[in-house]
Amino acid sequence: MATVIAVTSGKGGTGKTSLTGAVSSCLAALGHRTLCIDMDVGLRNLDLSLGLADRALMDFTDVLQGRCPLERAAVEHPDIRGLFLLTAPLTLPDGLTEEAMRGLLRQARERFDYILLDAPAGLGPGFQLAVCGCDRAVVVSTSDASALRDAQRTVSEMGGRTERIHLVVNRVQPKLLRRLHATIDDAMDAAGLPLLGVVPEDSRVMLAANRGKPLILCANKGAAVAYLNIARRIQGQKVPLMRIR
Ligand SMILES: Nc1ncnc2c1ncn2[C@@H]1O[C@H](COP(=O)(O)OP(=O)(O)OP(=O)(O)O)[C@@H](O)[C@H]1O
Ligand SMILES: [Mg+2]
Repeated sequence: MATVIAVTSGKGGTGKTSLTGAVSSCLAALGHRTLCIDMDVGLRNLDLSLGLADRALMDFTDVLQGRCPLERAAVEHPDIRGLFLLTAPLTLPDGLTEEAMRGLLRQARERFDYILLDAPAGLGPGFQLAVCGCDRAVVVSTSDASALRDAQRTVSEMGGRTERIHLVVNRVQPKLLRRLHATIDDAMDAAGLPLLGVVPEDSRVMLAANRGKPLILCANKGAAVAYLNIARRIQGQKVPLMRIR
């Protein structure tokens, strides 16, 4: 039975899609059947960043509306066994209910160990669909005040749906090292959330996405290690926070 994790932020561009793709790849590499679902209707890009744009032809609404079974719509990555993607449609059809989304997740829970939902920015209908059936949520924020305020608003908006909400602080820069502890503590205080991980600023994140190659297949330091640590913590392992140099 899968754990369903919504990856959210409020503010756009904080690193939700990068984290969803990288952590899902790590969970699959650790031996778990993992499905990532792109919930960013109209602005999907998880398929591109994982190099699955040519294969992911059916989207989650095709499954929701009965046009395609989940087994066919969810495509497996050719280079990472156990990593599956269900992509987003270009528009959200009328009448898609949260109940239908929960139905899709019920099907998926029986077939996978982890399901990660890459939510869109903002708190609109795509976000609501992404969080409606989750067991836990990861809020991705950079350490700046506006992203942290949006993170906090996201948490209030999720109120009651899940109590297991964790923070990932992304794009932490080495030059802030001396102030890092204060920054991360402040970030946790500002978001009011326990910390799941800290990901350094790392140009390999963008380079890997542009090449359509999962980060763990092209890097073994920096952000790649941070995402692997996050995957391990999701599994329940105790992994110390990495030192960012
Ligand atoms: N740790 C990092 N280091 C360097 N660049 C990063 C890092 N994380 C994300 N990025 C880059 O930041 C940009 C935005 O990342 P991403 O698309 O993952 O954010 P998002 O939260 O999904 O955005 P949106 O809200 O538009 O869906 C991308 O170009 C990505 O490569
Ligand atoms: Mg995104």
